[in-house]
This record gives sequence, structure tokens and C-alpha cells, in this order.
Amino acid sequence: MKAIVINRHGGPEVLEPADLPPPRPQPGEVLVRVAAAAVNPADGKWRAGMFESFAPVGFPHILGYDVAGEVVGGEGFAPGERVFGMLDPFRKGGYAEMVAVAADHLAGVPDGLDLPTAAAIPTAGLTGLQMVERGLDLQAGQRLLLTGAMGAVGRFALFAAKERGVDVIAAVRAAHRDAVRALGADQVIALGDEDWNGAPFDHVIDTVGGAAVGALCRHLRRGGRLLTAATTPIPGDGLPAVPEFFAVIPSGPDAARLAAAVAAGKVAVPIARILPLDQAAEAQRLVEAGGLNGKVILTN
Ligand SMILES: NC(=O)c1ccc[n+]([C@@H]2O[C@H](COP(=O)([O-])OP(=O)(O)OC[C@H]3O[C@@H](n4cnc5c(N)ncnc54)[C@H](OP(=O)(O)O)[C@@H]3O)[C@@H](O)[C@H]2O)c1
Repeated sequence: MKAIVINRHGGPEVLEPADLPPPRPQPGEVLVRVAAAAVNPADGKWRAGMFESFAPVGFPHILGYDVAGEVVGGEGFAPGERVFGMLDPFRKGGYAEMVAVAADHLAGVPDGLDLPTAAAIPTAGLTGLQMVERGLDLQAGQRLLLTGAMGAVGRFALFAAKERGVDVIAAVRAAHRDAVRALGADQVIALGDEDWNGAPFDHVIDTVGGAAVGALCRHLRRGGRLLTAATTPIPGDGLPAVPEFFAVIPSGPDAARLAAAVAAGKVAVPIARILPLDQAAEAQRLVEAGGLNGKVILTN
């Protein structure tokens, strides 16, 4: 099968095409013919070797967490069924024609949802949903500071928080003020440009990291929690809470709920670019440059 692999760590130029034997599904796994794979910010970090000290990869290595496609065989789904899901982040394998996936990481794609859109959902959607539900178990009426709320993770966190009746204060780039209000944010802070002078936040969900987030987190109430998904550290000196790193886990049932919400128009995941798989290097450059306001999808 065709795949895009890395044989060493480095810049986007280390992504190269390869012809590899298709994966053989193990018990409990499904073989999926990949139609679309999302490019996540983490892909470039794995490519660069950022996680090598605690999660070394063997070469050749196929990047890519999120796929949507058709079932070829295996357990739990019928051949031809349209499925999508987040792959095991330590194994990955999305930038390829075929991938073997644990059946319980997958969900069916609802009618009316195209496969590129389905591929855009899993990692970002699961992270946002799980930070709200599993990470903080937010309750109606709580005041949440959500940073990067216009990003892929942030949009889903905003959706999940509003579903629970949480009062969301979104910290976004100044240009995104109106857009994030239209998505349901109750109040908006221009991150890096404005401070907060309202009542203290009950909790924080951060998807950005860095000093500007740290400055806002001084307004977290004592006993509140600061959950971050970002790899850019938040300077912790003098903060009311120690930042806790949150790591997403693949989940077919959570993915199914997200896809149903997207299909029903309750939350949207915009797609900025769709490129063929062999343009994976360009796709990662685009994601690393930022400012896209949407997902980049690779198609076979
Ligand atoms: N821990 C986990 O399990 C996990 C899972 C998924 C993602 N992540 C991480 O979470 C982060 C967000 O992921 P994502 O997929 O949501 O990325 P994304 O779609 O690029 O969203 C990031 C958002 O934050 C905004 N932003 C970045 N720097 C900013 C700043 N200094 N001030 C204001 N806004 C800023 C971006 O705006 P611009 O586009 O204009 O820069 C964008 O709207 C990434 O670091 C990713 O690696 C972690």
C-alpha cells in the first residue's frame, strides 16, 4: 500500500512516500481503507521528535491520528461500512491507504456526513469533549476560561461546555471576537491584549499555553483547576493552581456522539484545505504556520 512515512526526525521535508505491506488486523481490530486523514498539530511534533524521550518511534513510521474510510475486514463492523476514529496515538498510521484500528476506537459515519468532515472530528473533538466531561466534569453555571476557543479542540470544548450549561469566557485572538460569540461564548477576552476584571474563573481549559494564558490564569479561584492540552508550558509561578496536562484517549462511543452533533449542525469543524496524501509535507507546513481557522485533510 501507499503510505507517507518518516525515516528520521526533522522538518516537513523528512516526510516521504513509501510502498509498504498493508497492516494485518489483530483480534479486536478492523482494517480500514483510508479515504481521508486529518493533519493535527501533534503530527509535526512527533515528526520533529518532540516526544522521543518518553515515546520513541521506530522507523519507518507513519504519522496521523485521525482517519475516515471504509471497512475492508476484521471485527465489529461490516465490510463497506463507513467508519472514522482516532488511532492509538503511540501507534498512529493514518497517512496511508490502509490502517488497522481497534474496533472500539471507531464509530460509524452518520448519513449525510462526508468522509473528510468525519476525519476532521476525532482527535480535536475527543480532546475538547473529554476535557469538559472527564477532565473537569464541568457543571451548569460554573465559569470556565477557555483559551483558543476558535481552534479545533477549542470549538468542541466550547460546544461540550455549553451543552452542560457552563458559562464560557473564551480567550481568542482579537480578530475572532465576534466569531467566537456566534459559536456560543458568553464573554470574550482578546488573549494577550486584554486582562480579566470579572469574577474569578471556576476552572480553566487551555489549548494555547504560554505566558499570556498564565497571566489570565491568575484570575482562577483558589481550588479551581487548570487543565491544559498544549505542549507550550504555562509559567506556573504564583498561579492559584498547578497546570495539569490532559491527554486525549481514543473512544468510539465519544466519537459517535461528536459525529451525531456535527451531523445535526450543533457543532461545526471547518475544513481549511483538502490535499492529496502525497502533499503531506505541505499539509504539515500549513498546520505549523497556524492561522488557518480550520482543519487540513489528506485524501487518498
Ligand atoms: N494533549 C492532548 O491530548 C491534545 C490533543 C489535541 C490537541 N492538543 C494540542 O492542543 C493544541 C490545540 O490544538 P488544535 O487542534 O485545537 O489546534 P488549532 O486548531 O490550531 O487551534 C489553536 C487555536 O489557538 C489559537 N492560538 C494559538 N496561539 C494563540 C495566541 N498566542 N493567542 C491567541 N490564540 C492563539 C489559534 O489561532 P491561530 O490559528 O490564529 O494561530 C487557533 O485558533 C495544540 O498544541 C495541540 O497539539 C493536545
